[in-house]
Amino acid sequence: MAAATLPGALAAALRQVQDDTAKPRRAMPPTFYTDTDVAAAEEYAVFRQGWICVGRVDEIPNPGDFFTTTVVSEPLVVVRDDAGDVQVLSNVCRHRGSQVAEGSGTARQLLCPYHHWSYNLDGGLKRAPLMDEVAGFDPAACGLPRLATEQWMGWVFTNLDGTADPLTPQLTELDPYVAGYHPEEMRTVKAGPEYWSVNWKCLAENFMEGYHLTPVHLKTLHPMTPTNLCQKIEGRPAFTGYKSHYSPGFEGRPPFHPDMSDEQKRMSMMVWIYPGFVAAISPNSAVYMSLTPTAAQEVQTRWGVVAREDLFAEGTAQDRWDFAASFNAEDKVRLVSLQQGLNSHYATAGPLAPADYEGCTWDFYQYLADRLLPDE
Ligand code: FES
Ligand SMILES: [Fe+2]
Repeated sequence: MAAATLPGALAAALRQVQDDTAKPRRAMPPTFYTDTDVAAAEEYAVFRQGWICVGRVDEIPNPGDFFTTTVVSEPLVVVRDDAGDVQVLSNVCRHRGSQVAEGSGTARQLLCPYHHWSYNLDGGLKRAPLMDEVAGFDPAACGLPRLATEQWMGWVFTNLDGTADPLTPQLTELDPYVAGYHPEEMRTVKAGPEYWSVNWKCLAENFMEGYHLTPVHLKTLHPMTPTNLCQKIEGRPAFTGYKSHYSPGFEGRPPFHPDMSDEQKRMSMMVWIYPGFVAAISPNSAVYMSLTPTAAQEVQTRWGVVAREDLFAEGTAQDRWDFAASFNAEDKVRLVSLQQGLNSHYATAGPLAPADYEGCTWDFYQYLADRLLPDE
């Protein structure tokens, strides 16, 4: 359905991606990253039907803890209920549509500020003032909708339209690359949304290609993970990734979990769970982004840094955030410039670098072709 609105030239380019016979492999045409029809098609076929990360389990450790977020214009509240389960609820009041929860915090109930309907932490309607005088009023039909949710390695995912196949079975071949790092034992240093003037795909691709590491991050990331040490893993329908090996001169990122292999101690694992979850998982910490579009040429990146408890104890957890903020700032400058370039009439679908450096982008195109092209 959504594919009907995909411009013909872009549909043809995605079919060439599926065929994968033309050499060299090329980037998608620039309008793929600027066109509002593409953004509309993606909202349904990619974001509403896909699994979207909303944050971390450890952000809401106790019953009543909650935070709000927005995924493609859908207000959500992520809350730990009285039973200790993490729920992803629609944050839209069943009375007249006000947003119920704001920001983050701890609450015994979710109270709509407009007319004071209140909801239990699992979404059920608790109280609606004066509504018992209304004939036919059915409180049971007035709970906040509970969205499908799954957890992977401490991250919380949701599926807006409830049609996606279960997520974690699609990640079993990714697990061996990540499990030794035990990201589920890490704790959030800081997380929150930012808005960048760039198409969401540009930022995802940038996070997941090592080709720019040396030129863009010469003083930050290059001394640790230079471009020439990137090694792609084989992509699958739900994910792709690459190993970002450490430079021999880099001291490393201890402490190490006992489950880590020698190889894992000397690299960061770069992970992309489609559509918009990207993460750099290191021995003692991880940086992640959950990318959702707010417009064709603007992305919401809800990004965060998590670290092992040892780093909190020794007082270096904040350093990991500061470091990530510094290389993200380097990326942002480049990506805002890129987006302006993509709007040029002279912008073109350039050839991609070898798979170790830009191959995740190609895997991502394959995923998007599957989502956006109509079934033959
Ligand atoms: S809109 Fe929430 S109580 Fe009226
Ligand atoms: Fe970068």
